[in-house]
Amino acid sequence: MALVSSTPLLVEAREKGYAVVAFNVHTLEMLQAVVEAAEESGAPLILQTTTGTVKHLGAEYIAAAAKTAAARSRIPIALHLDHCQDFNLILKCIQAGYTSVMIDQSMHSFETNVNMTRKVVEIAQALNVNVEAELGKVGGVEDDIKVEDHMASLADPEECRKFVELTGVPTLAPAIGTAHGIYKGEPNIDFDRIAEIATKTKVPLVLHGGSGIPDVQVKRCISLGMAKVNVATELKNAFSESLKQYFAEHPDELDPRSYMTKAKAAVKQLAKEKISICGAAGRIR
Ligand code: 13P
Repeated sequence: MALVSSTPLLVEAREKGYAVVAFNVHTLEMLQAVVEAAEESGAPLILQTTTGTVKHLGAEYIAAAAKTAAARSRIPIALHLDHCQDFNLILKCIQAGYTSVMIDQSMHSFETNVNMTRKVVEIAQALNVNVEAELGKVGGVEDDIKVEDHMASLADPEECRKFVELTGVPTLAPAIGTAHGIYKGEPNIDFDRIAEIATKTKVPLVLHGGSGIPDVQVKRCISLGMAKVNVATELKNAFSESLKQYFAEHPDELDPRSYMTKAKAAVKQLAKEKISICGAAGRIR
């Protein structure tokens, strides 16, 4: 199968009350690990990279690996560009083969956010590429985007309705109290706000900051309309902790195939758990 747009995957997930997990990957082994996890779980999958990872690896290399995974796989796989503020990089990634992009203008005024998002939607729709936009500001650190706690703000439900209507954006990431990175305490999720947003707009909603949220809270968010759950930090940590442990036990190891195999297995196990929590397992027969 070729890479698919994430729009139909997410529309179906919202309709049926589960979420597709979008995993941020940074290496070939991480990409292979989440693909294997999704295949073995029978789940649709969104591979996701930040702009930092695009700069690190190159959009063409990432897209080539994702296309190869999709061609060999029986599950639908989308490739998504996470939190991009740069219009030209969005075009470059679509050209390379990304089937979903996030235009993040949440730091600007509502009007600027609407105008930029609409511009991306017009281009992306013609190419069958999904678009995600953010309203409110998700706190925490995601690559080089840092939103201090006092700068984070929650999405206004009525603005969400207006935003979707004005932009035609097919997926929306409203800030509802989660944050990127690992939480210091429990996240303070505004469930009533999710419910209100979900009644105002029927597009699939995206839960950012998926690492470290207690499982029951993730499930509650999904039951209220969140159809895509982003997981970055926990996956990166599982990969790196496995490597650290491996080198502590085998300080003389010099073969990347040895330590990468362990790290890949750690990522795969975690990915399977996340897929199961989000109710995506067994959706592809
Ligand atoms: P975490 O790093 O908290 O998993 O957040 C991921 C995310 O929302 C990526 O956009």
